Amino acid sequence: MDDGPNKATGISRGLTNYGDADFSRYLRVANAKSMGFSDEMLSKPIVGITSTFNEFNNCHRSVPELVAAVKRGVIAAGGLPLEFPTISLGEPYLNPTALFFRNLMAMDTEEMIRGQPMDAVVLIGGCDKTVPAQLMGAVSAGLPAVQLVTGPQLTNRWRNERLGACTDCRRFWGKFRSGEIDEPTINEIEGNLIATAGTCAVMGTASTMAALAEGLGMMLPGTAAIPAVHADRLRAAEASGRAAIKLIQSGIGVGDIITKGAIKNALRVLLAIGGSTNAIIHLTAIAGRAGIKVSLDELNELSDTTPVLVNLKPTGPYYMEDLHAAGGIGAVLRELRPLLDLDCMTVTGETLRERLDGDPGWVNREVVRSLEEPLQPMGGLVALFGSLAPRGAIMKRAAADPELFEKEARAVVFTSLEDLAARIDDPDLDVTEDDCLVLQNAGPMSETRMPEAGYLPIPKKLAQKGVKDMLRISDARMSGTAYGTIVLHITPDSASGGPLAYVLNGDRIRVSVKERRIDLLVDEQELERRRKEMVLQPATAKRGYARMFGNEILLADQGCDFASLVADPDSLGE
Ligand code: FES
Ligand code: MG
Repeated sequence: MDDGPNKATGISRGLTNYGDADFSRYLRVANAKSMGFSDEMLSKPIVGITSTFNEFNNCHRSVPELVAAVKRGVIAAGGLPLEFPTISLGEPYLNPTALFFRNLMAMDTEEMIRGQPMDAVVLIGGCDKTVPAQLMGAVSAGLPAVQLVTGPQLTNRWRNERLGACTDCRRFWGKFRSGEIDEPTINEIEGNLIATAGTCAVMGTASTMAALAEGLGMMLPGTAAIPAVHADRLRAAEASGRAAIKLIQSGIGVGDIITKGAIKNALRVLLAIGGSTNAIIHLTAIAGRAGIKVSLDELNELSDTTPVLVNLKPTGPYYMEDLHAAGGIGAVLRELRPLLDLDCMTVTGETLRERLDGDPGWVNREVVRSLEEPLQPMGGLVALFGSLAPRGAIMKRAAADPELFEKEARAVVFTSLEDLAARIDDPDLDVTEDDCLVLQNAGPMSETRMPEAGYLPIPKKLAQKGVKDMLRISDARMSGTAYGTIVLHITPDSASGGPLAYVLNGDRIRVSVKERRIDLLVDEQELERRRKEMVLQPATAKRGYARMFGNEILLADQGCDFASLVADPDSLGE
């Protein structure tokens, strides 16, 4: 063969397709050369770049210029960047829910990293499910990987208000529902909620996952919160390309970064930022790819000793651009330092200790509080267990009303999303603000595949009386931008036969955040009778991905990954 492309680089990976490695390489290089690459370029280490640009995903509108900037960084550091498309998941557009497709994107990402001849990968994600899908895929693929995000949207000005998606979306929708604002006004707001490229401007799931990626060490320091349209975002992309080449040289793989310590650090970050409830599912799934278990008991232990420090919507008044200006996730990590595992490796090749030692940083205390004077003494999330949720449920206490933390209430039950939509605004609905709203059949095994429907609307007749919050319970998820006294992810879910399936109107439910409990106050005999009589509603799909999903999906406490995709499928059920 000629002196062309170096056999040690990605171009020569996996040359088995014709049973003749030299012939395979010759054909591959001939095809690569058809794109105009020189021998010199083809002899360099190859960095794959996932392009998740998609016109069904507004949050990824800036991906093309990020790809260009990553390429610049790779070339400057002596590599050959090759962009490749993967599935992209735009949260508001996907049916039945973006979560349904997270594992599909993770599979796409994993197999394209593994299948194509690259030495490292830069993952460009952003919208809620994309970053977890990419990290799950990258952990399983095992090549050196750097996570980059599109970054948050800037807020907009409307009249005398500052608007950012999507906590303000909900705030104004609530006002519209209660008749406080009229239709022309809500239409005007609709056109002003999202004014730039990027992901939701608050500490929703996208921002939370960006923060966790930085906390895990998978993203360059100081880059999680840079606004999508800021020039620093492009510089972060360029630096991510350079970092990928450095990773190839140092041999640091994802497995060196995603360790038990790193997952614990990410959990601390999640709790300290008052992050999204979705993130516990995603982090559990990412950890599961590395063979690491995340238990909800462990979440509670960490939550007891991790205060809420970050004052962003939906729990506080600020937005992601304010967090960036206030010191970003670096400021949060510096505060959390005594609680973190500092030996964890990061994508820069530095340990977290080295990163924090070398980061004098800056902080604005309005936005990022100190460990000594936190916003709340305990973490943003708490897991509840009991007869209604034997394998656990999640409450975002940071965004809930403490007056409803210890409560026994009468259940007002909705058996499905359709039932909820049909009756929630019925003036004759038998409901008071002292009741708890219960939604069934919205978990992973249901036809709806665990949508973000756990933020049940306050019944119109109560909303019009000024009721802003009630106890709400379901096996659904909730958007990271939502708030309220809401118990989610009840596991097992109702469609798979969890106790939630057997709750009837008028039952009593007791919640105690202090005791970490959620109980259905119905005796076992009566429950047994109901189990015999009531028919469950699990999803049924005859073919395709939906069938695979139904056969493979794990419940929320196992991260809703597919059973065959976790690191060691044989260990499930232990
Ligand atoms: Fe994409 Fe909120 S819709 S981040
Ligand atoms: Mg969201």
